[in-house]
Amino acid sequence: MSSSYSALSEIPCSKEQVENCIFSRWYPKFKSYVPMTRIIKPLPSEFIRYLEQDGIKLPPVDQELSIYTSDPVGNQANDYSDGEDAQEEEQQEDEIKPLIHFPELHNQIKQVIAELGPVTPKLNWSSPRDAVWILPNNTTKCTEVNEIYLLLNASNYIVHDLEIGQQQGNEFELVLRQWFALNPALEFRVFVRDSKIVGASQRDLNYYKYLESLKDQFKDVFDEFVEETAIPNFPDKSFVLDLYVPRPFNKVYLIDINPFARKTDPLLFSWNELATIENQDDYELRLVPENNVGRFASKEHSENQVPKDVVDASLDPRAIKELTEQWTQLLRRQQEESDSE
Ligand SMILES: Nc1ncnc2c1ncn2[C@@H]1O[C@H](COP(=O)(O)OP(=O)(O)OP(=O)(O)O)[C@@H](O)[C@H]1O
Ligand SMILES: [Mg+2]
Repeated sequence: MSSSYSALSEIPCSKEQVENCIFSRWYPKFKSYVPMTRIIKPLPSEFIRYLEQDGIKLPPVDQELSIYTSDPVGNQANDYSDGEDAQEEEQQEDEIKPLIHFPELHNQIKQVIAELGPVTPKLNWSSPRDAVWILPNNTTKCTEVNEIYLLLNASNYIVHDLEIGQQQGNEFELVLRQWFALNPALEFRVFVRDSKIVGASQRDLNYYKYLESLKDQFKDVFDEFVEETAIPNFPDKSFVLDLYVPRPFNKVYLIDINPFARKTDPLLFSWNELATIENQDDYELRLVPENNVGRFASKEHSENQVPKDVVDASLDPRAIKELTEQWTQLLRRQQEESDSE
């Protein structure tokens, strides 16, 4: 066989490099390139525990005030406990509830939404992109505070941020970016190694015919931003930029900065390539080819998707009970049918 194999390139990434990519660390230096954003930090430890707890406990929208005034410790009576389950009640006492345990943060988030309109949330590094299935519009657009809780609670990427932050001892922050309808075709990831661009990739892995003829124009704006703004202002020599270049393709928006490390998705490249590309005088802007197959045709984050009736039920213990009964009946029926065959 003629194919040759290369050893997996080592790509060192220090704790400091990861910390330099925390949103609030780089945001002040690049503010004029970043869509309107508010950062709330530090976050109360109750909120972090709320994100870590199993299940999702939302305050009922219409009753926020009455819950807060009539039941300050959060032991709301419910009509399905019928005194049968002391354990369940005890568990409820331990539950963290926004209006009871972090009302200030709750109100701060509401104020930001009142000021900016719909927002898209993220923690120190990650946005809950894997959890869009939980919102009716299937995006990270949040028009009210409960949608933010839903998204953050349902996301594995957020769990990952919590783990990294705790391991490294970082303060947590909630980043609320004003939501705008960006065109995913015009999002790019630009890989910078030792102060040179080594590659750029389309970020959304669908085929868009019109991108090919615009390649040089995109590269011009990447070059200008990276050389004149990113490299002089970012503390590391290697990093990965997420840039958005809307029509008429002459200005970039900075969406995110990620570590130059294997944990960052290399998209249409491989990390081995990015670590070893030698000609640094020019670089390739890779686009998804027509008739793309394989990994690029698969749906993103599909491993994290759950049927909607399960999600709906997870918000209401009675519905969970009903759903379980329906499933049990279905299984029983199937069993009976197969027995009678
Ligand atoms: N202000 C905004 N309005 C609408 N959509 C946005 C906004 N900012 C970001 N997005 C969308 O959210 C996506 C994810 O944002 P971001 O890159 O910050 O998340 P991330 O968790 O850091 O992603 P990754 O894990 O790939 O680094 C972007 O690709 C973009 O499509
Ligand atoms: Mg990122």
